[in-house]
Amino acid sequence: MNFIITGAGKGIGFETVKQLSKIHNTRILAISRNVQKLNELAEEINPLISEITPYSFDIVNGSIDNNLLPFIKELDFRIDCLFNNAGAIVNKPFAACDTQDFNTVIKTNLEAPFRLIRDLLPFINEGAHIVNAGSMGGVQGSAKFPGLALYSASKGAIATLTECLAEELKEKKISVNCLAFGSVQTEMFSMAFPGFDAALKSNTMAEFVSRFLIDGHKFFNGKILPVSVSTP
Ligand SMILES: NC(=O)c1ccc[n+]([C@@H]2O[C@H](COP(=O)([O-])OP(=O)(O)OC[C@H]3O[C@@H](n4cnc5c(N)ncnc54)[C@H](OP(=O)(O)O)[C@@H]3O)[C@@H](O)[C@H]2O)c1
Repeated sequence: MNFIITGAGKGIGFETVKQLSKIHNTRILAISRNVQKLNELAEEINPLISEITPYSFDIVNGSIDNNLLPFIKELDFRIDCLFNNAGAIVNKPFAACDTQDFNTVIKTNLEAPFRLIRDLLPFINEGAHIVNAGSMGGVQGSAKFPGLALYSASKGAIATLTECLAEELKEKKISVNCLAFGSVQTEMFSMAFPGFDAALKSNTMAEFVSRFLIDGHKFFNGKILPVSVSTP
């Protein structure tokens, strides 16, 4: 099975790549700006089991047409699963947020998945699974926290995009789901909730995520699934 995972350089994405790399006949194109840890992991992997290709790419400022697509063609890479996991957060009182904050969060959490899904579609196989990383903050009616307005709004938007795309891509037999993560101990969590301990470690969450990427679409399509055991 062939995976593209964004935000694979650390946190949930990195641990998910690690989990998937233990599965036979797995190819993973692992995207992040910083690929240092991915390069180290790729060297440890038994090539008879799986293959990790780290790819340094900025999903906001990088050119999909000039860089990512030619690279995918060169690898002869067809996609069975796209995990739009990369994310950005701004933790600031709403009144202090400026246009740059808005752009950082919206471009990373919404525009980049939109562009990636649209531009990668010709390379996505029938029967594939697209999974978008959402957040409990983006779930309607969930607990909300001061300072996270832009972030939560971006996750609400990716959740709705997920529902719409699941409908629109049905005829191509491509499923689209959104995992609304609760608290997971990562750098992003520490920015959102300084001094708090998250309920789950990223390797524990990655055990669930890797299983879900592989066969979650046998059970769900167009769903926003809360994956959370605590608030926050
Ligand atoms: N941790 C939680 O409690 C929690 C809760 C709810 C939702 N989530 C969501 O889960 C996902 C993973 O979060 P995490 O906690 O694992 O965060 P993290 O540890 O901060 O990792 C974020 C990843 O996104 C990548 N990234 C950010 N901007 C990028 C860009 N412009 N181009 C390419 N890569 C970019 C980062 O890599 P580089 O800096 O190397 O590019 C990094 O690999 C995010 O979408 C987040 O919003 C997390």
